[in-house]
Amino acid sequence: MSHLIAAPDEVSLRALGRTFAAVLAPGDVVYLEGELGAGKTVFVRGILSGMGYSGVVVSPTYTLAEEYPTAAGPVVHYDLYRLQSPHELELLGMREHADGRRICLIEWPGRGQGHLPDATWVVTLCYADKGRAIAFTGQRPLPQSLAGDT
Ligand SMILES: Nc1ncnc2c1ncn2[C@@H]1O[C@H](COP(=O)(O)OP(=O)(O)OP(=O)(O)O)[C@@H](O)[C@H]1O
Ligand SMILES: [Mg+2]
Repeated sequence: MSHLIAAPDEVSLRALGRTFAAVLAPGDVVYLEGELGAGKTVFVRGILSGMGYSGVVVSPTYTLAEEYPTAAGPVVHYDLYRLQSPHELELLGMREHADGRRICLIEWPGRGQGHLPDATWVVTLCYADKGRAIAFTGQRPLPQSLAGDT
């Protein structure tokens, strides 16, 4: 896991999302860990902005999933907080989404445990004295600004 990186405000957290966007490739699955309000959706907005998507990014609290077209291909953003049963993942097309062409960003992956594709990256957000802190675990090297060891 990377060291904890400070994100004292929403703007800096979005900027980290934009930087992280550059390491993502089609087929990547990103688990976004962190309690309610930890900044997962804000980080997703940064990722999508980094991929050149300039539209509105809503929290898929009730729809469970939203798909966005980006320069890097389709990105699907899940919020599984209200997932009732794994069957819903089938209805959402999780299997098709995880087909190697899309990038899947998954908030509350624990709710779908055992029914999700393996994570390429795990991003962990937590509350800090000032704002939030974030750490990354992944299968590929991270840019130094995200490894947090500077
Ligand atoms: N780095 C930060 N510093 C301070 N406040 C932040 C930071 N990042 C996000 N916030 C604020 O925290 C609130 C919740 O953010 P967000 O919706 O991204 O959380 P979430 O982890 O997606 O929550 P949920 O689990 O409910 O979906 C927002 O009001 C946002 O402005
Ligand atoms: Mg959210």
